[in-house]
Amino acid sequence: MLVNATNMLVKAREEGYAVGHFNINNLEWTKAVLETAEENRSPVILGVSEGAGKYMGGFLTVAQMVKAMVESMNITVPVALHLDHGSYEGTKACIEAGFSSVMFDGSKYAIEENLAKTKELVELSHSLGISIEAEVGAIGGEEDGVVGDGELADPEECAKITALGIDFLAAGIGNIHGKYPENWKGLNFDVLEKIKDATGSIPLVLHGGTGIPADMVKKAISLGVAKINVNTECQLAFAAATREYILAGKDLESKGYDPRKLLAPGVSAIKATVAEKMQLFGSVGKV
Ligand code: 13P
Repeated sequence: MLVNATNMLVKAREEGYAVGHFNINNLEWTKAVLETAEENRSPVILGVSEGAGKYMGGFLTVAQMVKAMVESMNITVPVALHLDHGSYEGTKACIEAGFSSVMFDGSKYAIEENLAKTKELVELSHSLGISIEAEVGAIGGEEDGVVGDGELADPEECAKITALGIDFLAAGIGNIHGKYPENWKGLNFDVLEKIKDATGSIPLVLHGGTGIPADMVKKAISLGVAKINVNTECQLAFAAATREYILAGKDLESKGYDPRKLLAPGVSAIKATVAEKMQLFGSVGKV
């Protein structure tokens, strides 16, 4: 059974750790993340972007696959299936398809419109027991063709959107999706502290988890971050392991072309990455 992400994140915020949100792309990815969560007795959030949902055959396919895998694999740790950076229509579609958590990303709208749309989606998701994340201050970098500049969120806007009853808040603090450039200035902890002071006890979300140094991750957690999103790092680990397998000519040996063998090193690499993050975020054993 899937759960919404509210309880796991409120607990994380109270106890000073963060739950990892790992984006999934296919069945192997999902299995790798679920197995790692179970092995580490860690709660977990499976993130699905609209692009990944489309790639996997649609939101309904994803919801049914994840629910069936949680059941068939006897997963006993809390698992939330969460829409990542949802549009207004995409958020509604995932609520209908059976996701247990959604993110409505209205950061591209003017704040009044973001607030109005978020309010409507908070009411809809809460009427069905689904948790909802909202965003102010676009996260930089590129995701599914959407490019942002790494804005710093306005604490006043954070307070306004939090007051709508959202369950957790994504606010830009200089973080970006994908690899960080050499000249990246790092997370802006002054802004994070102001956001924390303006929003009370709501769990904060750190997007762009790939490549943030461990000390910055820990400091962010100490300032109210309770959910950290990781996508690119798993993709890089998967690609590197698959590349190594092919370059070593292993696909040409015996039945090395069998997808169950060909994809196995990549799956192990995802598992290692996820386990490392769970350790860093402090969610191991927190079920
Ligand atoms: P990265 O791809 O940088 O890890 O960011 C993931 C993310 O924030 C998904 O919303």
